[in-house]
Amino acid sequence: MDGRPIGVFDSGVGGLTVLHELLVTLPHEDAVYLGDNARLPYGPRPLDEVRSFALEIGARLEEEGVKLVVVACNSATAAGLPDLQRALRVPVVGVLQPEAHAAALATRNRRVGLLATEATVASRRYEELVHAYDAGVEVISVPAPRLVPLIEGPDPFGEETTEAVREVAAPLKEAGVDTVILGCTHYPIVRPVFQRAFGRSVTLVFSADETAREVAETLARKGIENDESREGAVRFLTTGDPDDFAEMGKRFLQLPVRHVERVTLAGVAPQAA
Ligand code: DGL
Repeated sequence: MDGRPIGVFDSGVGGLTVLHELLVTLPHEDAVYLGDNARLPYGPRPLDEVRSFALEIGARLEEEGVKLVVVACNSATAAGLPDLQRALRVPVVGVLQPEAHAAALATRNRRVGLLATEATVASRRYEELVHAYDAGVEVISVPAPRLVPLIEGPDPFGEETTEAVREVAAPLKEAGVDTVILGCTHYPIVRPVFQRAFGRSVTLVFSADETAREVAETLARKGIENDESREGAVRFLTTGDPDDFAEMGKRFLQLPVRHVERVTLAGVAPQAA
């Protein structure tokens, strides 16, 4: 039995979709979630900058005494997972590998599409990971820079989102993919919009579901689970404004977000209160 919390981090509130699945799968575990809202978004940034942010946050979560770190951000996983795994003493689980595995298993025609941020697409990590499972799978990648701001915007289910999803779905449909990796924390929020754009014959793979499974298995195999009869608690930390985090966080966690604490990281310029 291990009472230490699970550390989870993201560039902002998007990783709360991953936390949601973790809370459903592992309701007895405690968690500390850190959103780097002051430096959001990571998607348009160069990979080495995102990697340095991830290393800083990983070290901070280790100071909080976590037993495992979940990189609940596709861009940060794509940019920095191997470096984080080398730098931290605790196991680190990213969101790409579980999705790549699920996609390689699901595809029947061995044509897989990827929708993600510019950083994630530029890293080419999904291709490498899918090919580690099946080198014969063709991966067709499309960056979707419009989606994150729309999903965080005032009308996530509005016309503009539908139109932006259709735009990025078109080249993948044309390429005849039968499986699509939704490689960004924000996409589960508009799952029905993707389902309508791609239709029933295309399998959609989301990182939140796949990662929760991987974390549960990692805790079990290492024998570091908490007592199953208890109910876990969550602490929320942000480098940005705690009230904004709580407000936007509800949309992504789909549960109330309470008691958000502001944290300072060395690399983040202090914000006006
Ligand atoms: N969390 C990021 C990701 O999954 C999306 C938001 C951002 O660009 O920071 O790639």
